[in-house]
Amino acid sequence: MTRSEAARRRALAVVALLSAAAAITARAGADASPIAAGRDLFRIGCASCHGLDARGVAGKGRSLVGAGEAAADFYLETGRMPLSHPNVQPERNPPAYGAAQRRALVAYVGSLGGPAIPRVDPSAGSLKDGLKAFTDHCAGCHAITARGGVAPPGAAPALQEANATQIAEAVRVGPYLMPEFGTREIDQHALDSIAAYVLSTRHPPDKGGWGIGNIGPIPEGLVAWLLAGTALLIVVRLIGERA
Ligand code: HEC
Ligand code: HEC
Repeated sequence: MTRSEAARRRALAVVALLSAAAAITARAGADASPIAAGRDLFRIGCASCHGLDARGVAGKGRSLVGAGEAAADFYLETGRMPLSHPNVQPERNPPAYGAAQRRALVAYVGSLGGPAIPRVDPSAGSLKDGLKAFTDHCAGCHAITARGGVAPPGAAPALQEANATQIAEAVRVGPYLMPEFGTREIDQHALDSIAAYVLSTRHPPDKGGWGIGNIGPIPEGLVAWLLAGTALLIVVRLIGERA
């Protein structure tokens, strides 16, 4: 074997080794894909109610086939899942999983089919159209101020914590007792506008004066009388003491 031939063989061996390593890494990468990671998390945290293969458990949790990324993202980002007990209304909580784990769970549920996370752009909507659509479709349960109300046998929450994506997801998914709205009832412009309107209720315009948390004209009047009365008492006392 000449020296150059030996060098060539060594080089070939190195190439073979490198490509084998690359193949192994690629396979490991596939195993560590978000969907597979999500399936593992699902089996630990969700299967007790939704089943090992997400096809549901009678009396505990429904099948998630067809629920889609939209529902999974909404329920996980708003901390509604995992639920503590099958028969309670899901409520907003701090998310139970970190961001990467939520992405993995969403990818896994999404891999079972169903709607993608809806697009929404509040800056493309109009506040006026949003107020109209919200009045028509949402205010009956959430109140026109979006501060929440009753939706027997449950409660419709205040909406000031939801971001634009979560608003769009709720509209399209219809969580718990809320109806779901398709694009025929609420088209993209109406959706953008509803999001713009709901986000605007986080900071309602103050019609002058001191807002005292926008609790309404009657308590505002009471506060005014209380302050004025206290001021008057102080003045009276000061004058009285001097005299
Ligand atoms: C029939 C009553 C009802 C109607 C109509 C309704 N909702 Fe809801 N909404 C609910 C209930 C109940 C919940 C709580 C769901 C849960 O517990 O998981 C909810 C939850 C939400 C949430 C999640 C809030 C959060 O902080 O996590 C958003 C956002 C929302 N609704 C927006 C809307 C919009 C926008 C409309 C109109 C297009 C609408 N809702 C119409 C009853 C209703
Ligand atoms: C204690 C039982 C329980 C556990 C644990 C649980 N769920 Fe649920 N899940 C439910 C019930 C009950 C509902 C129906 C709630 C509703 O109508 O809003 C539901 C609804 C859902 C939905 C909406 C389905 C749809 O068709 O819109 C998704 C998505 C979901 N769960 C995902 C999960 C994930 C992911 C986990 C684990 C992190 C999980 N759940 C853990 C009981 C559970």
